[in-house]
Amino acid sequence: MRKRIVAGNWKMNKTYEEALTLVSEIDNMVKDEVNGDVTVIVAPPFPFLQSVGKLTQGNDRMHLAAQNVSEHESGAYTGEVSAAMLKSVGVQYVIIGHSERRMYHHEDAQSLYKKLKTAIAQGITPIFCCGEPLEERDADRHFDYVDKQLHDSLSYLSNEEFDNVVVAYEPIWAIGTGRTASSQQAQEMHAYIREQLSRMFDAEAAFKCSILYGGSCNPGNAKELFSQPDVDGGLIGGASLKSRDFTDIIKSF
Ligand code: 13P
Repeated sequence: MRKRIVAGNWKMNKTYEEALTLVSEIDNMVKDEVNGDVTVIVAPPFPFLQSVGKLTQGNDRMHLAAQNVSEHESGAYTGEVSAAMLKSVGVQYVIIGHSERRMYHHEDAQSLYKKLKTAIAQGITPIFCCGEPLEERDADRHFDYVDKQLHDSLSYLSNEEFDNVVVAYEPIWAIGTGRTASSQQAQEMHAYIREQLSRMFDAEAAFKCSILYGGSCNPGNAKELFSQPDVDGGLIGGASLKSRDFTDIIKSF
């Protein structure tokens, strides 16, 4: 059985007080309303990680993620945050290779590979993001595009290193646009990703890997998306900023 995960990527939103309010609400709703074995992850901005983590400590189902990590271990890298620092404040997951970081911060495949390595070395589980822009989908090159993203950053990991990686498929045309991939589009890409992973690593590791869908996922479409055999959960942006919506998405499993 694969781990079922719903992760909220808060991106650059919320002040400190707002962040604490949001996570307290989510924590309470998850305790009161969510049955079953869904792993819930919140990914607040860096300055709020420790405080948010403290609030969720007593809830086994809630986990803490960072939105980024430095590719370097330590040293003179002004403004960067290392995997060891994240680990020391209780971070368990880290989002790596989100399309916004690839686009606006020019993160390339080699840098993402280094980020994966440093997170894994600290025992932090990477949530590795991939997904094509609209022009690639329109040109029917989306499978090749995603395959290259997987290959260029993931394929250099060993089987053991890959064992803990979570993959998120986030088609760029669906992020923040209100235009979701259909459940069929999500399923066929997720199955394709799993197949590519089974070529890079062993089949069991690929089978065990949780593959999340991201892109305008909301309480209205989550159930249909999560019912697909290769969709193991969601990476949620906008809807994760509202406790009611986020909890309803978690309850869609
Ligand atoms: P939205 O859910 O706002 O489309 O964002 C998805 C996303 O980028 C999550 O990482």
